[in-house]
Amino acid sequence: MASTGSNDDKLPQVWGDVPPRNPNFTGRKALLDCLHEVLGRARETAVLPQALHGMGGVGKSQVAIEYVHRHRHEYDLVWWIPAEQEAQIRASLANLARRLELPDLSEVNAVVAVREALSTEQQPHRKWLLVFDNAENLQEVRQFFPTGGAGKILITSRNSGWARAARLLEVDVFTRDESKEFLRTQIERGVRLRRGPTREHPRRPAARYRASRGLEPRDRNVH
Ligand SMILES: Nc1ncnc2c1ncn2[C@@H]1O[C@H](COP(=O)(O)OP(=O)(O)OP(=O)(O)O)[C@@H](O)[C@H]1O
Ligand SMILES: [Mg+2]
Repeated sequence: MASTGSNDDKLPQVWGDVPPRNPNFTGRKALLDCLHEVLGRARETAVLPQALHGMGGVGKSQVAIEYVHRHRHEYDLVWWIPAEQEAQIRASLANLARRLELPDLSEVNAVVAVREALSTEQQPHRKWLLVFDNAENLQEVRQFFPTGGAGKILITSRNSGWARAARLLEVDVFTRDESKEFLRTQIERGVRLRRGPTREHPRRPAARYRASRGLEPRDRNVH
């Protein structure tokens, strides 16, 4: 992303694998404010992870993505770790080790080296944020958490068992107002798209369908 020099546009020095912001992101204001508040609080002695918990598809990862983009300028390092499987976590942390230019190591050692590097306050990227996205297996995922340092850990998960090892924030279905806002923006967006550069006539869904499948247009007078 190009930097305009404003604080808000600045990316952290280390910024890895964060999914793009969803241009249709809607609502979740209270949740995002709360997340910012708890992650911004003075650090406890050990890193206490923050978990966004809720049922499948409710929007946990979306909230995490939006949070990271909104507050990226508050961190020196942000690393997004797909955490469904242990192998993905290892591969992601090995990439981070390379990005941090830790000595050339095997994957196993690289993971340990990252954990240790982030656990100390002396390392150059003090304010770090690790996001473990879709982390369903506590035992598998926890072993990778740095134990100290000035960083934060954010988890998204369907597993309520995280209550034993993290502070939980519930992600529920949209409120009525959020649903209305979502529908309104979708409708407005749909209208804008139809009036967009393709100049496609809004009343010709059949033509759109044929074009999308590489079929010749039918007689122009037949809709
Ligand atoms: N706040 C939002 N604004 C707009 N769209 C959203 C929002 N939250 C969720 N969505 C839509 O719902 C989809 C699923 O959201 P998301 O991936 O965040 O769910 P999840 O809770 O992480 O699910 P899972 O438990 O399967 O990982 C998104 O890809 C997006 O299309
Ligand atoms: Mg998710």
